[in-house]
This record gives sequence, C-alpha cells and structure tokens, in this order.
Amino acid sequence: MIKLAKKIAQGAGAIQRRHLGRIKNIRFKGDINLLTEVDQACEKFIIDKIKAHYPDHDILAEESGTSYSQSSDYRWIIDPLDGTTNYAHGYPFFGVSIGLEYRGKIVCGVVYDPIRDELFSAVKDKGADLNGKPICVSKNQSLKKSLLATGFAYNVHETEIDNLDHFSNFIKTAQAVRRDGTAALDLCYVACGRFDGYWELGLWPWDVAAGYLIVEEAGGRVTQFRGTSFDVYGKEIVASNGLIHDEMKTSLARGKVPKEGQRRQELLNIRKT
Ligand code: IPD
Ligand code: CA
Ligand code: CA
Repeated sequence: MIKLAKKIAQGAGAIQRRHLGRIKNIRFKGDINLLTEVDQACEKFIIDKIKAHYPDHDILAEESGTSYSQSSDYRWIIDPLDGTTNYAHGYPFFGVSIGLEYRGKIVCGVVYDPIRDELFSAVKDKGADLNGKPICVSKNQSLKKSLLATGFAYNVHETEIDNLDHFSNFIKTAQAVRRDGTAALDLCYVACGRFDGYWELGLWPWDVAAGYLIVEEAGGRVTQFRGTSFDVYGKEIVASNGLIHDEMKTSLARGKVPKEGQRRQELLNIRKT
C-alpha cells in the first residue's frame, strides 16, 4: 500500500507541475479558501487509482469529502493539493498528502513536493524516509535556537481563536517563525530537521494524517496543545523534535485554544448511502 501511495502521490505531483502558472479557474469555497481545477484533477486521479486497487476501502478526501465511504477497516485520507493558495499564486511550495488509516490508526503516510522532487514517507513502527533515505528530527534543545513554522486556518478573518497570539509569542521567544502555506510539508520539514517545531489550529485530517506519522516515525513528538494525545480528527496540533516540546506547550498555554477534545465528528459517522 505504501508503494501505491508513493506512486499515486508522484502522479498527482506531476499534474501539479504541469499546470503550475496555468490555472484558468479559481473558485471560492469560502472568503479566502480557494479551489482550482488542479485540486480537483489531482483528487480524481488519486481516488481513481485507489479505487482501481482497493475498491472496498473507504476514502476521505478534501474536495469530495466522504461520499466514497463504505465502512471498511481501511480509510485513505487525502489532500490532493496542500498549499492551494500558494499554487494559485505560482508560489512554488505545495504538495500531495496521502495517509492511510487502519481501524482508526494511521499506518502509513506519504507527502510529495513536486517542485523539489522530495517524497517523504513513513510506515508505522518502520521509520520515516525522504527519497528512500531515513530521516530524523533535529537535536535542537531550546526554543530560542529553534526555527518554527505555523499556519492560519481559513476562518482566520472570523474567529477570535486566530493563532495570532501564539504567533506573536513565538516570534518573541523562538529564533524565527515561518508561515509557508502547506501544513503537510511543514510537518515533513519537522521530520527531517529543517524545522524544529510546528503548531497550528483548525486543521483537517487530510492536512495532517500523513505528516503526523512522518514526524512520529522520524523520532519527533506530536500532541494537542495541552500535551494530550494527538487526534487526527481534532483541531489542534503541536509537532516538534521532542526536545522543545515542553517549551512550546508552555508558550501555547499562554494563548487562546479551543475547548479540549473537540473532534470533527461529522467526518467519523458516515456511511455510504
Ligand atoms: C491549507 C494549508 C495551510 C494551512 C491551512 C490549510 P490547503 O491547506 O495546509 O498551510 O495553514 O490551514 O487549510 O487548503 O492549501 O489544502
Ligand atoms: Ca490542506
Ligand atoms: Ca488541499
């Protein structure tokens, strides 16, 4: 399955490379939430391939949601194009994310950056790699020497829990903070030691399913803001090299966070009709 996931991610990445800078249609799913024809083409490509190999598996994909759900033990969790805003502007940082859940646990994950031809992957308990070579998180022990990343959810204009407080706290305490527009690659960059830590609010399972496993398998730590176990269907994530995790948690406790344990329940109780 991991082999298939890698092949499909590379195939979808090739579509992204081919169409970069040639977007004709941009639709709006919300005020600032874009949808291009490439998101849709990549999602169709990925789903068609998975269905051809595993017709009985469930699929949860960002653009078509849960309409393919069939109550299998397996669920493929797909972000066909993570970094759509970047993509629509021709900013070359985006990718494909495919995670595979088995009986409620993520067992493999693949994230592909088609511009740099970097393929990150992990299998539960088997480690993480980048283009076939094992990767591990950084050894940085202090927040002050750490390069962090974050992102802002599409409801940032409307919500009070907007991550700006955490952003300004970390800007004052870490070495630097980046906001690069793709959660999946942000997580992979933690996994391979380019970033020391990453946090975000309001994400969806397709943003994090693969990247979360890649960080864990690279020796990092992923939790909710208060340190409780990470939940792919939850709404908060802090990922780090493990060594700066407590410092990050302490900082996050100083800002606004959603009520603990909120889950995207609507994505869990679905069956094909
Ligand atoms: C978005 C990106 C971005 C993050 C947003 C996500 P999309 O995903 O991962 O970095 O800050 O919260 O929604 O819409 O480009 O697939
Ligand atoms: Ca995404
Ligand atoms: Ca997306």
